[in-house]
This record gives sequence, structure tokens and C-alpha cells, in this order.
Amino acid sequence: MTNPTYYIDSIVNLESKITELNKTWTNIYLLVDENTKADCLPSVMEHVPFLKDANLLVLDSGEENKTLEICDSLWSSLIDTGADRKSLLINLGGGVITDMGGFVASTFKRGIDFIHIPTTLLGQVDAAIGGKTGVNLEYSKNQVGTFAHPLFTFIDSQFLRTLPEREFMSGMGEVIKYGLIADKALFELLKDKQSLIANLETIIKSSTDIKNQYVTTDFKEEGDRKKLNFGHTVGHAIESYYMVEVLHGEAIGAGMICESYISFKQGKITEQVLNEVNEMVFSFFDKIELEEKMLEPILNEMKADKKNVNGKLNFTLLTGIGTSEIDHFIEDEMAKDSLTYYFNL
Ligand SMILES: NC(=O)c1ccc[n+]([C@@H]2O[C@H](COP(=O)([O-])OP(=O)(O)OC[C@H]3O[C@@H](n4cnc5c(N)ncnc54)[C@H](O)[C@@H]3O)[C@@H](O)[C@H]2O)c1
Ligand SMILES: [Zn+2]
Repeated sequence: MTNPTYYIDSIVNLESKITELNKTWTNIYLLVDENTKADCLPSVMEHVPFLKDANLLVLDSGEENKTLEICDSLWSSLIDTGADRKSLLINLGGGVITDMGGFVASTFKRGIDFIHIPTTLLGQVDAAIGGKTGVNLEYSKNQVGTFAHPLFTFIDSQFLRTLPEREFMSGMGEVIKYGLIADKALFELLKDKQSLIANLETIIKSSTDIKNQYVTTDFKEEGDRKKLNFGHTVGHAIESYYMVEVLHGEAIGAGMICESYISFKQGKITEQVLNEVNEMVFSFFDKIELEEKMLEPILNEMKADKKNVNGKLNFTLLTGIGTSEIDHFIEDEMAKDSLTYYFNL
């Protein structure tokens, strides 16, 4: 497996990055959804003449479309337009497009070349880095997928200018996570709300560096890559329970508070650090309204987590701002207490 490569650069320079690969393809495809078609495609077409004859594949936006049925329609479109093993697929969009496009490309004829151009903050700092692709099954997320790397991921923060504010903030959930698990300086930078946009390149660079580092050293998630799951055991459970009303980063925000509470209860961080986490999360996100009756179903969602071992919940815990430890096996009761803690904040 070659090392993943990503560039943080202006779209103007994409063409030269493609040329530098020194490869030729028989067919080139560009995958978009209706929003990235309207907001991102024009600038790609303007600055990347190489793509002028690309076949456009347009999907409906939304997590509910990240399905095998849609992949099936994409595979059929590829076949119908004469795609062969020497085809290239360029995925221009958020995590839904890059996850699904990566999956379609990595399985079509046992794998064709693909490039990611993530256009959401979540995509740029997370989904398009690390080589995980996949789709959802019914109401269970990311159940089918592959580990497969794009030729490269190309990140241009200018695309984020058209991103709805709520989607942008959702991406910040992952950025806060990177700060908490591995980069105190990044965490501190996020306190300066006035300069958030001015600091965006630095924020994206720090985040992708952390993700890339874990992914390169632990591709199959057997060691430190698990740190990236901080906030996600509880967060995913909340997200699955609510399905569409709560965005990923918002759920992860709540999850980070719960898992910081567990870190505190396990004696890993002080109450002051816990409060600092809470303050940071609430500076980006409103509280998600939980009711007493939701705690049990959310706990049940947690117990279905792929990372659990022998029925015990597996958590990454904080040991401070910017440091963390993997593989803490936690009793159900403690996980439930953490939800109650959040519920009572
Ligand atoms: N593979 C991984 O490692 C990984 C990691 C994290 C998340 N994910 C996946 O990523 C997905 C979520 O990604 P997301 O948050 O980017 O959601 P998304 O792809 O649904 O995009 C969010 C919305 O923003 C729109 N959009 C995208 N770019 C835009 C732009 N520049 N301007 C205007 N609108 C734009 C989209 O059309 C969509 O409506 C989930 O399916 C999740 O499972 C994967
Ligand atoms: Zn996440």
C-alpha cells in the first residue's frame, strides 16, 4: 500500500498535480451532487482544462443516498459509458460523495484510479483522508466498505465559502477532536473565534497532519488510529438514534463531553480540563436535547459499536488537552452516567 498523499493548495494547481502523476486514462468521470455541481464544479471546470471532456455523474445530496442501490446505479453508468480498468473517477463533494465514490472506484473492475476533492470542512479534515470508503445499510452506517487510497486528495479551502454555516460548524467537531487528542496548540487556536476564517489553512493543515500521521502508521486501526474515535463511541450512538436531525460534528461534540466526563471519572483528567472541553464544545454547538427515556436506547446503540470487545465498550480517553490513551474498557453504567451528565448540563 503506497502512502496516502494530499495537497492543500488552490484549485488552479490541480491540473499540474494530475500531470505530475504521468498516467493516462481511457475515460475520466467526475462525481458530484447537485450542490457541488452548482457551487464547486464551475471553478473546477474553469481551472482544470484536463477535465473538459469528463463524464459527469450527478447524485442527489444527502446521507440517505449513501447506499448500495446508488452504487449499483453508478457501476451501471460506468459500464454503459464504456468505462474500463484504466478509467479515473474524480470525487468532488463532501464525505458522502468521497465515501461512496471511493467505494465505487475501489470495487469497479477490482479497482480503478480515483482522486478526492473534498468540498466540506468535514471532508477536508477527515473523510477524504485515510482511505476508508463505504456505504450505509438500512439504518446502520458504514457497514460495507473498503480500505482504498485515492491517487491523492486535493484540498482547497476556497470551496468552503459556499458551505452552509451549520455544515461548516459540523466539521469543526472533528477539528476540536484533533486538538483534544493530539494538538494543544490547535485547541488553543480554536478559542480565537474572530480569527477562525483567517486561521483556516492552519486549522486544516494541523488537522490533516494528525489524521494522516495516525493513518500512515496504523492503517488497519489496530493501535493509535483508535485515538481518532474519541467522542465517537457516544457521538455515533446519538447520531444513529437521531439519524438525520443531528449532524455528525454536533453529535461528536456531545460525545466528546461524555467521553471527557468518563476520562475525568477514571482519574485521567481534572475537572478543570473537563470544564474546558465543555466550554469549547458549547462555543461551537448548541446542546442536543436528550430526554431521560432516550438514555437506554442510546446506550444500546453504543453496545452495537464495532470497536467493542467481548461486549465491553471500548473508549479512547483524554489524559489532558492534547493527549489521549486508547483501549479503555468501560462498564455500561459509566457510559450511561456520562449521558446523564451531559443531559443535566
Ligand atoms: N471515510 C472516512 O474516514 C469518513 C470520516 C468521517 C466522515 N465520513 C462520512 O462523511 C459523511 C459526511 O460528510 P459531510 O459532512 O461532508 O456531508 P455531505 O457530503 O452530505 O455534505 C454536506 C452537505 O453540504 C453540501 N456541500 C458539499 N460541499 C459544498 C460546498 N462547497 N458548498 C455548498 N454545499 C456543499 C452537500 O451537497 C451536502 O448537502 C458521512 O457519510 C460520514 O460517514 C467518512
Ligand atoms: Zn467523525
